[in-house]
Amino acid sequence: MQLGQPSRTALATAYARAYHQIASEPRIFTDPLAIRIADVTPDQLSALDAASMVEGDTDGEMRRRRRMFLAARARFAEQTIADAVAAGTRQVVILGAGLDTFAYRNPHPDVRVFEVDHPDTQAWKRQRLETAGIEIPASLTFAPVDFESQTLAAGLAAANFDRDRPAVFIWLGVVVYLTREAILDTLRFVAGQATPVQLVFDYLYPASASTPEDAAQRAVRAERWAAVGEPWLSFFTAEEIEDLLREMGFDQVDDYDAPKLIAGYLGIPPQPSSTVPLHMLRATRTA
Ligand SMILES: C[S@@+](CC[C@H](N)C(=O)[O-])C[C@H]1O[C@@H](n2cnc3c(N)ncnc32)[C@H](O)[C@@H]1O
Repeated sequence: MQLGQPSRTALATAYARAYHQIASEPRIFTDPLAIRIADVTPDQLSALDAASMVEGDTDGEMRRRRRMFLAARARFAEQTIADAVAAGTRQVVILGAGLDTFAYRNPHPDVRVFEVDHPDTQAWKRQRLETAGIEIPASLTFAPVDFESQTLAAGLAAANFDRDRPAVFIWLGVVVYLTREAILDTLRFVAGQATPVQLVFDYLYPASASTPEDAAQRAVRAERWAAVGEPWLSFFTAEEIEDLLREMGFDQVDDYDAPKLIAGYLGIPPQPSSTVPLHMLRATRTA
């Protein structure tokens, strides 16, 4: 991220989630605040997409698939939260929250939500919430943390997060932007939470796993984000990340590739390859 600037990828993701609400495509995830927090009108969103500026991609089909993935990962995360709450968990931590709106739609009255994000992105989000007139619920606590230079432990302790009670951690669209050290620190922190603890995140396969066509598209995207100060830094295979998680004490790992996850929500057979091999993962530690 560029010093003093909010995350550009957070805005791109928010635009895509907002456009998913109005696009003529099967709706996987409904977010009534997505358009308000993105601070655009539906007409502006359509114009942005038509001008291929939503994510800077000129390939409409690729943009559509990416939106479907963003919608699917949000739905997967919120279903995990709902299931954990039904089983008794009362703390939710959204890591690298960007313009995520779960905390402002939280349907679970006695569940505390902690939004952790880079201080620059979080300050920008708070301004946007104010401009949009979106109320900050009493159940939400902000915890500004730069994963590269500050510890999650200190940031969450300052926010009165209870380390000795179960929690669900949601970490969407962040891992690829962090160094391996920062990722491992965060995984260790989550693994050390009182059980049961769950962590939901998405990750990207190394470029070597892509077909030549996918690798070319992927290189274009990676260069674009690097140019605005948010380079892709870390990649995993399913085997590698599962080994790491199990070493840290997680006893259940549910891993889905993007087409499978999306197809499951649409009730159709998985479509051929995603543009980049993206995976969604839920790790659980029960004891
Ligand atoms: C692609 S956005 C995803 C935002 C949100 N989770 C979503 O799905 O819309 C990446 C997020 O990672 C956060 N991030 C990137 N590097 C970070 C760092 N070093 N420390 C804390 N947050 C960071 C950004 O501030 C941004 O909110």
